[in-house]
Amino acid sequence: MTIFDRFSLKGRVALVTGSGRGLGLQMAKALAEAGAHVVLSGRSIDMLEQAAAAITGAGGAASAVAFDVADLDTGREVIAKIRADHGRLDILINNVGARDRRAFAAFSDAEILQLIQTDLLSAIGLSRSAAEIMKAQGHGRLISITSIIGSMARLGDAIYPIAKQGLTGLVRSLAAEYGPFGVTSNAIAPGMFATETNAAISESPEMIAFMRQRVPLQRWGRPEEIAGAALFLASDAGSFVNGHVLTVDGGMSIQM
Ligand SMILES: NC(=O)c1ccc[n+]([C@@H]2O[C@H](COP(=O)([O-])OP(=O)(O)OC[C@H]3O[C@@H](n4cnc5c(N)ncnc54)[C@H](OP(=O)(O)O)[C@@H]3O)[C@@H](O)[C@H]2O)c1
Repeated sequence: MTIFDRFSLKGRVALVTGSGRGLGLQMAKALAEAGAHVVLSGRSIDMLEQAAAAITGAGGAASAVAFDVADLDTGREVIAKIRADHGRLDILINNVGARDRRAFAAFSDAEILQLIQTDLLSAIGLSRSAAEIMKAQGHGRLISITSIIGSMARLGDAIYPIAKQGLTGLVRSLAAEYGPFGVTSNAIAPGMFATETNAAISESPEMIAFMRQRVPLQRWGRPEEIAGAALFLASDAGSFVNGHVLTVDGGMSIQM
């Protein structure tokens, strides 16, 4: 077996949430290129079907399921259906992360709950269901997408960092509880990526100048630059990495 074989996902089945576009789509493409069947998910079925067609058109295996991750009961059903359809579930990437940049006082209790439900409780629910399947298989990879804000704070952005820091706790609790059964649990903390969501600001001269000054690599991340980290943690190449938060930010968070 070569080191390249250890990156193979042949025979594996993966669910990536929020994978119709952005970082989720890049990670889904990478897992499919490595041989996994990837289940794409998000709320708009048209976007997911287009993404799945692009993956299958390139020789990969993919299917699509539309659901809102904030609906925990449906999340449980989706995981059970993947297990029923494919006989297994090897990789879960909790990638959905909604953001609402406001100060504490600007949120109602219901708005806070909704954001925590979408960004954190969804990942807890999906991970709990997936982990039990993985435990029975004796193999699994749980991955959650946090953010470099997951170890910091940002003025006027009160709730998102709380949810992301909760995800780090989730990843570590799962790592401790399911490690003995061959299931690893890790996080990826992206820095600033020029995804569709950031398209407008990533091209502004002010932001380009800001990134040049703030990031040692002096630029925005390209969406496809998240994929290597996801494949590493999802494959046997990362088999002894457990409970880790892998920062992918061009060095932004290590520089004052
Ligand atoms: N981009 C960055 O620079 C950056 C930086 C740090 C961390 N992150 C984190 O990385 C992850 C991906 O970011 P991104 O910018 O690539 O995401 P994005 O483009 O904003 O969203 C990705 C997908 O999530 C789906 N989605 C949103 N809400 C959903 C929900 N409630 N249920 C199901 N699907 C939902 C969307 O599809 P539908 O609208 O069809 O549902 C969309 O296709 C997030 O967790 C984010 O916090 C990103």
